[in-house]
Amino acid sequence: MSKKSALDLLKMKADSTRITMVTAYDYSMAKIVDAAGVDMVLVGDSLGMVIQGMPDTLSVTLDDMAYHGRCVARGLENAHLTVDLPFMSYQISPEQALQSAGRLVQQGKAQSVKLEGGARSVAAVERIVSAGIPVVAHLGLTPQSVHTLGGWKVQGRGAQAAEQLLQDALALQDAGAFALVLEMVPAELAAQVSAALEIPTIGIGAGVHCDGQVLVINDLLGFDLGFSPRFLKRYAELQPQMVQAVQSYVEEVRTGEFPTSAHSFHRRRGPAKLAKVY
Ligand code: KIV
Repeated sequence: MSKKSALDLLKMKADSTRITMVTAYDYSMAKIVDAAGVDMVLVGDSLGMVIQGMPDTLSVTLDDMAYHGRCVARGLENAHLTVDLPFMSYQISPEQALQSAGRLVQQGKAQSVKLEGGARSVAAVERIVSAGIPVVAHLGLTPQSVHTLGGWKVQGRGAQAAEQLLQDALALQDAGAFALVLEMVPAELAAQVSAALEIPTIGIGAGVHCDGQVLVINDLLGFDLGFSPRFLKRYAELQPQMVQAVQSYVEEVRTGEFPTSAHSFHRRRGPAKLAKVY
């Protein structure tokens, strides 16, 4: 099977088939999520937090995204690969946006790129799409604007904010975006936007009426049980199991239980001369 294209994903909306998306940041995890059958893999700039240990996404660079993009790409056979354009890689001008998107395709092996923002990002979307690079847009809580939004808050709650979000979504669709991530918006608004658009909406904290869902893989698998936003459902709680596994290793190395003879290589039996080890 070949990797899903933007057209395949548009068709999924037309066929009322829900789209599944998760993040991944490296080859090993990419192989796992691909084998699990997800439709889309996002190399999100959330890697600033879950990989780099930063408080937000703002210090992630285009080099970081290209590096993680190509690591993930090598692990995918079926899923479509979207890579985030990081903060300040597309806001300056449409030309800068296209150059950055081009780098993510050439060096990050992206099939599509994602960027944040409504009306202010329309020119960038148009320029990137005009060069033949598919674009995923992102509205609602847009983490690259965390300082303007004043924190990690639900967006589009009032009537005016809801109308603005709907207009932004329509403008991004007109500009050529083939999908739209909706992050932390009321479920009713996400349902209204999803019904108004021909392109699929992919929700995170945006209710069940989006055309698809996305979660950060580290959250889905429970790598950090201290992180519990309302929108998150953990499908595993791996943090204690992983700590336990490493603790067992530490203990067994200290006591000499590991490695056993079965984990070791031995000299060949035979004539008294030294066996070749290569
Ligand atoms: O960076 C990211 O992982 C994202 C998703 C949460 C949608 O943008």
